[in-house]
Amino acid sequence: MKRIIVAIDGHSSCGKSTMAKELAREVGYVYVDTGAMYRAVTLFALDNGLFTEDGEVAVETLNHRMNEVQVGFVLDTETNLPLVTLNGIIVEDRIRGMAVSEKVSLIAALPFVREAMTKQQQLMGKEKGLVMDGRDIGTVVFPKAELKIFVTASPEVRAERRFKELKAKNMTVDFNEILANVKERDYIDSHRETAPLRQAPDALLLDNSQLTREEQRRWLLEQFHKVAD
Ligand code: DC
Repeated sequence: MKRIIVAIDGHSSCGKSTMAKELAREVGYVYVDTGAMYRAVTLFALDNGLFTEDGEVAVETLNHRMNEVQVGFVLDTETNLPLVTLNGIIVEDRIRGMAVSEKVSLIAALPFVREAMTKQQQLMGKEKGLVMDGRDIGTVVFPKAELKIFVTASPEVRAERRFKELKAKNMTVDFNEILANVKERDYIDSHRETAPLRQAPDALLLDNSQLTREEQRRWLLEQFHKVAD
């Protein structure tokens, strides 16, 4: 069996990371959630007061301070899944809250942030045997990935999934706020100048609005074996 790179891109909250994690576990590959990396940079900006009063990013200051931002992963020994770290501290829970979700698209649109994250992601793929999810993995980070999937689902289905996920973590959430956030992020992610969210011409399209998690898992595994066996 060949060791390959699996690039999973698509809209926010459409279950990319769930399917990517499951595939990585089943085939013994490393899993990397690149959204978590952009979220960690956003957390740094929030913690350091790098948003102006009207909610804009203090771009120049963040650019100068990027050398203070070390994003990494450590393996959770219980689940065998990577946990994102910011300057050596595990921030997995803090990056999932609404404060980060509301600001992350602005941070992810900045070319110097993307450049730093892309470099780091490409290093992680040197040995292949990697499942990476994000928005630009098949188009920019690994344009030669052997298997590319572009995942989508309706905004309502995605907001409902995110709502349940946050509720399960006992966070206070409002469905309409989440739906508005999902739509806003789609817009910003698809319209930014640097590495906008789009389907690579050679990516397989998966609309999972009507699929169960199990159906999706089997479909992805089948695509993997078609390429890797
Ligand atoms: O997948 P997520 O919702 O955790 O991603 C958070 C944000 O980061 C999302 O608004 C898009 C952005 N992102 C990106 O621009 N490029 C990536 N490779 C991954 C995420």
